Amino acid sequence: MRTHYCGELNESHIDQTVSLCGWVHRRRDHGGVIFLDLRDRDGITQVVYDPDTVESFATAEQVRNEFVVRVQGRVRTRPEGTENQEMLTGKIEVLGKELEILNAADTPPFQLDEHMEVSEDVRLRSRFIDLRRPEMLNRMRKRSAISSSIRRFLDENGFLDIETPILTRATPEGARDYLVPSRTHPGEFFALPQSPQLFKQLLMVAGMDRYYQIAKCFRDEDLRADRQPEFTQIDMETSFLNEDEIMEISEKMIREVFKQHLDVELPSFPRMTYMEAVEKYGVDRPDLRIPMQLVDIADLMKDVEFKVFNSPANDPSSRVVVLKVDGGAELSRKQIDGYTEFVGIYGAKGLAWIKVNDIAAGIEGLQSPILKFMPDEVVQNVLERTSATSGDILFFGADKASIVNDAIGALRVKLGEDLNMLETEWAPVWVIDFPMFHVDDKDGSFNSVHHPFTSPSCTSEELEADPARALSRAYDMVLNGTELGGGSIRINKPDLQQAVFRVLGISVEEAEEKFGFLLNALRFGCPPHGGIAFGLDRLVMMMTGTQSIRDVIAFPKTQSASCLLTDAPGTVDNKQLRELNIRLREQPKADPEVQSGQSKGEERQGEEGRPQGE
Ligand code: AMO
Ligand code: AMP
Repeated sequence: MRTHYCGELNESHIDQTVSLCGWVHRRRDHGGVIFLDLRDRDGITQVVYDPDTVESFATAEQVRNEFVVRVQGRVRTRPEGTENQEMLTGKIEVLGKELEILNAADTPPFQLDEHMEVSEDVRLRSRFIDLRRPEMLNRMRKRSAISSSIRRFLDENGFLDIETPILTRATPEGARDYLVPSRTHPGEFFALPQSPQLFKQLLMVAGMDRYYQIAKCFRDEDLRADRQPEFTQIDMETSFLNEDEIMEISEKMIREVFKQHLDVELPSFPRMTYMEAVEKYGVDRPDLRIPMQLVDIADLMKDVEFKVFNSPANDPSSRVVVLKVDGGAELSRKQIDGYTEFVGIYGAKGLAWIKVNDIAAGIEGLQSPILKFMPDEVVQNVLERTSATSGDILFFGADKASIVNDAIGALRVKLGEDLNMLETEWAPVWVIDFPMFHVDDKDGSFNSVHHPFTSPSCTSEELEADPARALSRAYDMVLNGTELGGGSIRINKPDLQQAVFRVLGISVEEAEEKFGFLLNALRFGCPPHGGIAFGLDRLVMMMTGTQSIRDVIAFPKTQSASCLLTDAPGTVDNKQLRELNIRLREQPKADPEVQSGQSKGEERQGEEGRPQGE
């Protein structure tokens, strides 16, 4: 049907007769001649019909935007003065001879170049049209190219691409499961995998040595700008490699992908302990493009009368920190109020500040609502510890450590972006030495920081003696403040696995019920093994410079985990429910969003929840 793609034509094709197929991007009738901008996956070419070609001209008069047509004509240079430098094919045009309408099209719900003017909901509902936009096409193309490079890298490095089940048992990765009722086993359910974690471990027991899969994962969790309920991992597992070797090979993979697709030579990946990351940056995924750090000053505030500072300064589970912002003294009162509101999202009760107008003038050179609460000497010590100079502002955070970390950690990133403090374009880092467990504030129970199959760096005796202090052999790859991937060395002995289950409060019976197959496999010659999984969507997001994960997924879900295009999830008929042995507790209620005055189709896409700090 066609000889060329629209985007590939250039001056080397002049005088050739070509056939093109595609969509009418725009039709312009210049009284006497009709211009069709013909678009396909590759680009746009201008086709001109003049009244000499009577039949085609008449057809050209009938076509409308987004009609699918086949064009035949001769490539020629555009008349002088009508070249379009912005278009790759801007020096040529096709003088149309034939024109065949392959299919008509209704008026689209939005014009491709006016997508900014419609809500994302409108675009998602007609995603097949939205995907016609060159930006979307290019992102899909990039995604395809990136995953194909990754496959090539892993194939060349001895990894076997092996599929694992989608209908399976729960794999605890910290989110809720999506469940699928079983018809053949009344009252029983499959869980969709939150990751292929347990199967990839079993593949190591099986001797596959190196496994990978570009795997769909399903997690019923609160969605944010970089999270989807169904997303894709580049999932890897290896036997007989230690953490250094696994980090090395996966770092090489990411480095090669950046080189191939962005021509970027990533800087070397430093390693930072979890403890250091939280102390200096407030988060376990520090954005190292921004130089600012949190500076602890609790020791200086123990005896001040200012209660906001002295009570957390005397509480071991709290923190008092300063964030020094170079040049921040220029911030207006209104801007400071804005940042105070911002930290409030994370639970901070306020945001004390000191502007350093003139460091040489001592206390006189400072401006702040809190100076009156603190002895001059303490203020001087704070200035010295933060190396403050004229023109800076100091922001203070004082509260429970988790609140200070979340709030001031996020403020650091926000200020870094607002004040253009990014020092490099790409700042990767490996975060290592994670704790094994975090302790639930409410009931003191332990939860896995990574997942329950992660090996501790200590013995099982040490682990059980003091679980809160135990570190794990886990590692996260962080890029520009985003967690790109995470992995660990796994437990390969049943005793140690049972010890971890005990700390997590999982009884022997429950462990046997849920993970018996794994515990059993560990008894049959399980090699030392470990791996990692990268979020492919996040990787593509970063590499295409987009802020929303929905931009790199062909058919994404909304904030409330629905698909506007297919209107999933949907109700099912009673017959189907009966077959599945399911009786609904009550008839499905009207959609809660409808009840609250917001129809399902009008979900807001803008709000992504908290931008930082989980
Ligand atoms: P983890 O839970 O850290 O580890 O996930 C690995 C990577 O997957 C991406 N990711 C997501 N991307 C989009 N939407 C989501 N909802 C989402 N959740 C996670 C992130 C993350 O770094 N089985 C372990 C890996 C291992 O230990 O080998 C796991 O799943 O980029
Ligand atoms: P207040 O005594 O509540 O008026 O607070 C005095 C100053 O301290 C104000 O600038 C508040 O924004 C700030 N502030 C209050 N609570 C905190 C806190 N937990 N951390 C940091 N600054 C705070």
